[in-house]
Amino acid sequence: MAKVTLSVIKADVGSLAGHTVVPPELKEKANEVLTEAKKDGVIKDYHISNCGDDLELIMGHHKGEDSEEIHSLAWKAFEEAADKAKEMKLYGAGQDLLSDAFSGNVRGMGPGIAEIEFTQRKADPLIVFMMDKTEPGAFNLPIYRIFADPFTNAGLVIDPNAHAGFRFEVWDIMEHKKVIMNCPEETYDLLALIGAKSRYVIKRVWPKEEHPKLPADEAVAAISTEKLFQIAGEYVGKDDPCGIVRCQSGLPSTGEVLEGFSLPHLVSGWMRGSHNGPLMPCAQEDAICSRFDGPPRLVGLGFNFSDGILHGPLDMFADPVWDYQRQEAARIADYMRRHGPFEPQRLPLAEMEYTTLPKVLKSLGDRFEDVE
Ligand code: F6R
Ligand code: MG
Ligand code: MG
Repeated sequence: MAKVTLSVIKADVGSLAGHTVVPPELKEKANEVLTEAKKDGVIKDYHISNCGDDLELIMGHHKGEDSEEIHSLAWKAFEEAADKAKEMKLYGAGQDLLSDAFSGNVRGMGPGIAEIEFTQRKADPLIVFMMDKTEPGAFNLPIYRIFADPFTNAGLVIDPNAHAGFRFEVWDIMEHKKVIMNCPEETYDLLALIGAKSRYVIKRVWPKEEHPKLPADEAVAAISTEKLFQIAGEYVGKDDPCGIVRCQSGLPSTGEVLEGFSLPHLVSGWMRGSHNGPLMPCAQEDAICSRFDGPPRLVGLGFNFSDGILHGPLDMFADPVWDYQRQEAARIADYMRRHGPFEPQRLPLAEMEYTTLPKVLKSLGDRFEDVE
C-alpha cells in the first residue's frame, strides 16, 4: 500500500477585533493558494480552518514529512493571508511569520507543524486538534491519557492489538534533546517528565515493535512543538499548538481519543500568554476567545483520510454531550480569574521570564536594597 502524508501547518497572521478570530477574507486568500496547488497536483486535498486567531492548513499529499514543496506552499498561503491582513489593518498582521526569506522549511520560522507519513490502511479515521491561547505542553495530559491510561482508553485492557501499549517521544524544548519512553513499563518516569509541561512535551506517539497491525516506524500521533519565544528571542505570543491523532483498529477509537480531553485541565497561555486557565473543548465556530482573551480553546476535526483525500470534517466537540465540560471550564475560568494577578492564575515567575514582565521588574531594580 502506498504511503500518504497529512500535514497540519498553522500560523497567526492577523485577526479580527484583537487576537480573536481569523476573518473569512484571510481564509479565502489561503484557499486561492491551495486550490491552485491542488490543481497542479502538489497536494491531493486540503481543508482550511481556524481555531480562534490561528489559521490552520490541513493538507493531504504524497510528498512525505518536511517536504520543501509543501512547506513553501504553506508559507505562500500564510504570506498572502498576511498581506490581506495588513491591507485590512487587522490586528497582529503577519505576527507569526518571523522571517522575510523562506529557506525551504517552515520549521523555526514561526508556524507550528504536525505531520505524519504512514501506510494507508483499509480505512484511516483521524482527528486533527487545534488549540488557541495555549502552548504545546497542553497536549501532554490528554495524549498521555489517550495512549497510556486504561481508565481513558479501554482498548489498552480489552483490545489485544493495543495491549502492549505505546512509545512516547518526548522533547526537552529548552535543551533541544529527545527521548523515547515505553509505556506501560516506564509510566512513572514518563510522568516525571511530562508533568513539567512547559519544558518536556510529547512530540510523537509510536506503536510498539510487537503491534500486530502497525509498522513501528510510523507515528500514530504528532504534535507541533515550536516555541515562538525561542525562535524570536523575545515574547511574541504563545505558540498555539496543533496535533494529529490516528484512530481505530488497534489504535484508540475516536471516542477514546476524545475521552482524553474530558477534563478541562489547567494549561498555560490565556491572557498575554501569562495565565493558567482551563482548556475548553468547543465547536469550531465557537472558538472565540472573548473572556479575558480566553479561556484557552480546543477544536477537534474528524476526517477519513483516503489516499490523500480528506473526507470530512466532522466537528467532534459540537456534540452537546460536551456542554457539561464547557460549563465546568467556564466555572474553573471564573474561579481562576478571581485570583487576578496572583499565582496560580498568573504563571510562576520562571515562565514569566519570556513575557514583558521582566521589563517592568527591571525598572524597579535600583530601588532594591540589601536586607540586614
Ligand atoms: C495571548 C494573546 C493575547 C494578547 C493580548 C495583548 O496569546 O494573544 O492575550 O497577549 O491581547 O495583546 P497586545 O500586546 O498585542 O495588545
Ligand atoms: Mg494573535
Ligand atoms: Mg492564537
